[in-house]
Amino acid sequence: MITKHEFGTLESESRKIYNYTMKNRGGMSVTVTEFGGAIVEIRVPDKFGRDTDVVGGYDSLRDYVLADGYLGALVGRVANRIAGGTFTLDGETHRLFRNNGKNSLHGGKVGWSHRVWAVKPEDGEEPKLTLTLHSPDGDEGYPGNMDVTVTYELLSNNALSIRYEATTDKRTPVNLTNHTYFNLGGYASGSIRDHVLQIEADTYLPTDADLIPTGEIRSVAGTPFDFREPKTIGRDMDADNADLKTAGGYDQCFNFTGGATKAPERRIIVYEPNSGRVLTVFTDQPCVQFYSGNFLDSAEFPMKGGLPRRKQTAFCLETQAMPDSVNHPNFTNTILNPNETYTHTVIYRFSVQQ
Ligand code: GLA
Repeated sequence: MITKHEFGTLESESRKIYNYTMKNRGGMSVTVTEFGGAIVEIRVPDKFGRDTDVVGGYDSLRDYVLADGYLGALVGRVANRIAGGTFTLDGETHRLFRNNGKNSLHGGKVGWSHRVWAVKPEDGEEPKLTLTLHSPDGDEGYPGNMDVTVTYELLSNNALSIRYEATTDKRTPVNLTNHTYFNLGGYASGSIRDHVLQIEADTYLPTDADLIPTGEIRSVAGTPFDFREPKTIGRDMDADNADLKTAGGYDQCFNFTGGATKAPERRIIVYEPNSGRVLTVFTDQPCVQFYSGNFLDSAEFPMKGGLPRRKQTAFCLETQAMPDSVNHPNFTNTILNPNETYTHTVIYRFSVQQ
C-alpha cells in the first residue's frame, strides 16, 4: 500500500513537497520525501513484534533544506569528498564548489540531496517508488547532462531495495549512495556502540586530516577496521589509531572482499541485542563508507520529536565505489561514458533474532 501526504512548502520554489509511505504485509513501512529523495522514516518490528522508527530524520521540511548531515538523502553526482574540489578528465580540469573546507562533499553546494525529485508510485504487494532527476551539463561543475532514476521497492520479506541508474551525454564521474542513519534499537534509543557489526571487507582506505583517502589501500588485519568477524561498533572505536582519531570514530571506506559483483551479495550484517533487530545489507557495489555519525551533534537541528541530535546515535552504511576515485588512478573507475548506464543495487533487509 502507498499513501501520499503533504510534508511542507519549499519556499524557494513556491511548491508543495509530498511524502510517500509504502507499507507491506510484514509490518514494515518506508516513507520517502520528494526533497532529496530522502528516506524520512522506516518502521519495522522488533523481536517482540513492536514496530519502531529505526532511522534518523526531521519533523519538518525546513530542517531537511537547512541542516547538514544528509539525513536519509540520495547523494550525488559523486558521494563523499573530492580533493581540492577539482579533477582532470580527458585533459580538462573541472572545478567544483568547495562546500567542505577546501574539498567538495556529496555533490557540492546544491547536490542531489537538496533537489526535488519527481516521484512515481506503483502500488502492489511490493510497493515501489520511482524517483527521477535531470542534472544539467555543468551542474555543480560536473560535465554532461545526466538523467537519474532511483527505485525504492519495499519487498515482502521486509527488505528495502534501492536501485540506481544514470546516463550521461559526456564522460563524467558518478558515484551515488543513500545516506540513511540507522539505529536498530530505534532512532531515539541512544548510542550505537552495542550494535554488533560484520563487514566482509579485507581492506580499507586510510585518510588524511581532511578525510581524503591518501591513495593507500590497507589491509584491515590487526586494525580496528577488521569487522570480518562480528564485533560491537564500540569495541575498538576509541583505539589509539590515527584514522579513527582524525574522523572521531568510523568514517572510512571499506572495500568488500573480491570487489564489485554482478548481482547483489550479502556483505554486511548488523545486530542490535535489545530489540533483536538484524539489518543485512546486500549490494553489487565494491565498497561501503561506514560512518558512525561522528558529526551528528547539532544544537540547532533536533531530530523527530525534538530529540537532540547527538554524536554516534546512528550510523550510515553508504554503499558506493571508492571516494575520490577521480583523483586516484589505482582506485575504482567512477567515470561513466555516454553509451553506458551506471547501475547500483543495495538491499537493506530487516529481520529479528530472539
Ligand atoms: C559522510 C562523510 C562524513 C560526513 C557525513 C555528513 O558520511 O563520510 O564525513 O561528512 O557524510 O555529515
